[in-house]
Amino acid sequence: DLNAPFKNAADTDWSLRHNMRWILKAVEQYRATPIEPIPVQIGGEFEHSEETKVGRDPSCPEKEAYRFSGTDADGIERALQCAADAQPAWEDLGVEERRRILKQVAVEIANARADCITATMLDGGKAAPEADAEVSEAIDFADYYADSLSDEAFFDGTSCKALGTIVVTPPWNFPFAIPCGGVLAALMAGNSVILKPASEAVLSSWQMVQLLWKAGIPKKVLQFVMCADRSSGQKLLTDERCSGVILTGGYPTARMFQGWKPEMKLFAETSGKNALIITSAADPDQAVKDLVKSAFGHAGQKCSAASLAIIEADLYDSPGFMRQLRDAAASLKVGPSSDPASIVTPVIHEPDEDLSRAQTTLDDKENWLLEPKMVDGNPCLWSPGIKKDVAPDSWYRRTECFGPVLGLVRAANLEHAIRIQNDSDFGLTGGIHTLDAREIEIWRDRVEVGNAYINRSITGAIVQRQPFGGWKQSVFGPGAKAGGPNYVSLLADWTQDALPQ
Ligand code: SER
Repeated sequence: DLNAPFKNAADTDWSLRHNMRWILKAVEQYRATPIEPIPVQIGGEFEHSEETKVGRDPSCPEKEAYRFSGTDADGIERALQCAADAQPAWEDLGVEERRRILKQVAVEIANARADCITATMLDGGKAAPEADAEVSEAIDFADYYADSLSDEAFFDGTSCKALGTIVVTPPWNFPFAIPCGGVLAALMAGNSVILKPASEAVLSSWQMVQLLWKAGIPKKVLQFVMCADRSSGQKLLTDERCSGVILTGGYPTARMFQGWKPEMKLFAETSGKNALIITSAADPDQAVKDLVKSAFGHAGQKCSAASLAIIEADLYDSPGFMRQLRDAAASLKVGPSSDPASIVTPVIHEPDEDLSRAQTTLDDKENWLLEPKMVDGNPCLWSPGIKKDVAPDSWYRRTECFGPVLGLVRAANLEHAIRIQNDSDFGLTGGIHTLDAREIEIWRDRVEVGNAYINRSITGAIVQRQPFGGWKQSVFGPGAKAGGPNYVSLLADWTQDALPQ
């Protein structure tokens, strides 16, 4: 129903055994079917390169899972020209027609839910509930962005125009929902799009983009490329026909892109070092549950993940609370993403220097509440680790480690906890657990993060309800929030040029 008010898509209920059986069967089928090499799509044609790269499932990283093509500078040139040529007709199609196509995208993704979940599990290494939530989020992006140009200014077609061609460069940690959201927002505003997925998780984005074409987005308006080398990637982003770049990635990557082309219109969501405050007035059961979910969901690899818990002294010194936290984390099933019962799944590649340091070493007075261990001999699969007595000025407190490690900081009181939370270069997500209304008020006024959560986990922003994006070094560019009311309009130009002459 095109006129139904926006409603978030429901996640799968994993407590029902038939849903577990459903996804188990989908995983089995998926694994039994050989994966065709993934082409690039330029100018409406699928192209295979002679040299291909290998895609891996981090649950068995030693095995090749699939192959994908890349394109060189010549392919990028053709893609940019095609995008420039195709864009005006797409914009002229009008808001209503683009809206209808986005609504159809939501239907196509919902109809292919099992395939989308399995691709995201076996490519991105996600646990079934995490992959499922990504698919819901992608459906939400389609439904929500479709409706977000209801402003008269857009409808009369005189007050704004599309930017042109947008290049979308998503991350590997949300390889289905984040590219889907970026692509659809840019398309809804009338831009053509070139999607370059993350090389660690091409298959999930490939699955997604095919559904978008099926829903009616013309192939020339939405092209799909991987770059054969760095210079073709640089050309894609710096060419004058690229009018803007949507990036989700590290802060240094955003700076590098901007360095390549200082006038680049960059819409970037970047790094984080997120903390959850738990005061002595918290409900400890709820706090533990939400903390464990925030820290170890997708093996701690969400940019929104809790990497620190800042705990008020009374609670910190309570052996019962610490035991509860340790036991809760230790009880999470660690296993391959192909097993739908796994909660903590592999990290995308073998731990890099920072994650490895966080997992294997302790600074100064730190000690392990729960020491992480490699599981099943898979260098990518690690059990949750919790460090106690992390100092507010320590290496771990300052470094985004992107893995299943949590540090605990002891705070004298709420004031102290807020100071520690805010003393960061980043400001993506943050939370507080307390049942004291006054503490909530104090915190809400002072916390310096884009997504501030009260008595809830600090991951899993819901489209429309919790528009997602940070401040400080967690954002680069104008900073409109994904899944929020201004995101699509930001991808259009509101200058005088657009006004009737
Ligand atoms: N939107 C995701 C979350 O809220 C992170 O990208 O967890």
